[in-house]
Amino acid sequence: MAKKTIEDINVRGKRVLVRVDFNTPLTEDRQKVADDKRITAALPTIQYLLAEGAKVILVSHLGRPKGVVNPQFSLAPVAARLSELLPDTKVVMAQDTVGASAKAAIAAMAGGEIVLLENVRFHKEETAGDPAFAKQLADLAELYVSDAFGTVHRAHASTAGVAAYLPAVAGYLIGKELGVMGEALNNPARPFVAILGGAKVADKIAVIRNLLEKCDSLLIGGGMAYTFLKARGEGIGNSILDADSVGLAAELMAEAKARGVNLMLPVDDVVAAEFSADAEYKTVCCNEIPDGWCGMDIGEKTAELFAKVIEDAKTVIWNGPMGVFEMPNFSKGTRRIAEACAACAGITIIGGGDSASAVKKLGLADKMTHISTGGGASLEFLEGKDLPGVAVLNDR
Ligand code: 3PG
Repeated sequence: MAKKTIEDINVRGKRVLVRVDFNTPLTEDRQKVADDKRITAALPTIQYLLAEGAKVILVSHLGRPKGVVNPQFSLAPVAARLSELLPDTKVVMAQDTVGASAKAAIAAMAGGEIVLLENVRFHKEETAGDPAFAKQLADLAELYVSDAFGTVHRAHASTAGVAAYLPAVAGYLIGKELGVMGEALNNPARPFVAILGGAKVADKIAVIRNLLEKCDSLLIGGGMAYTFLKARGEGIGNSILDADSVGLAAELMAEAKARGVNLMLPVDDVVAAEFSADAEYKTVCCNEIPDGWCGMDIGEKTAELFAKVIEDAKTVIWNGPMGVFEMPNFSKGTRRIAEACAACAGITIIGGGDSASAVKKLGLADKMTHISTGGGASLEFLEGKDLPGVAVLNDR
């Protein structure tokens, strides 16, 4: 890693501001954490700092409260879960982020204790990247550690701005995410297979372009496959179409051909009479989607063809489901791809967001090499973009 990490500086006994991404799903009543993956992912950094006797000040956002204090977006359920995960550590929840409660809680801290600040997005200055607010955050501590991989693509006050005022280093989660995904992108064991799904081609253009330069096979499923099929002159019925991207899809297919990349599109689809969970459905060959019907999932033949390529791969990166997997009738393609990734003996990396949820829901999470904690962040990393929250950290 080109950036300094927590092991490169002396943290002993210091007040350390740690940006974590505790933007976790909550239960329906918003009283409890529904999925603590992002909290457990930050524990190695937190535990290292605690063991060094540091005073650990955690700062995070939760949801998008738009700069307004809103109890629905309080981090209190996260503080409760963190206390359960660290039963021997004192965890204090401050009632604000940079105000009197935060300052008092920090003043009262001993080494080896945690203060979790209230949702940093209760301040509109956070997402605006306001330097004065970043300075207020910095004034709470002596060192800054970034471990919020899920939010490093945001140039906000707590993810980037604060680094202007404090020594700034990376935590273990940032190191792990960048290490695993960076190695796969820059030095992949081959064959290197990328699987992309999701609805809109426009959202994935930069990723496709970057991956086409690196991978051996690119498997395209999900809603965006229909834009590629359309570009190939096939009928797609009422399937989702990113009309503005048809020309671009044709260009990307030509580029894949020129580079010798095996770009695979669905050969059959599960189609439904309407976009709903209990709609009438059937499997048809691509190009035979009846008028008015819409593609909801890759078909069984496609799933098997994709699975074979995945199982033979040495490196796999997957981002985006193969169909409308939240509807049981249209989840089989995504399930088969997840099973193939689980069966692959090579390195398997699952981008955050929907594909990570799918793998978790199917109980296959522990069969993957790495499941990223970042949705948007992992996508921007796969695009080859500089991540603002990493760029600001001190170089070695
Ligand atoms: C995420 O869940 O992707 C991150 O926490 C970033 O959240 P945001 O998209 O609201 O910035």
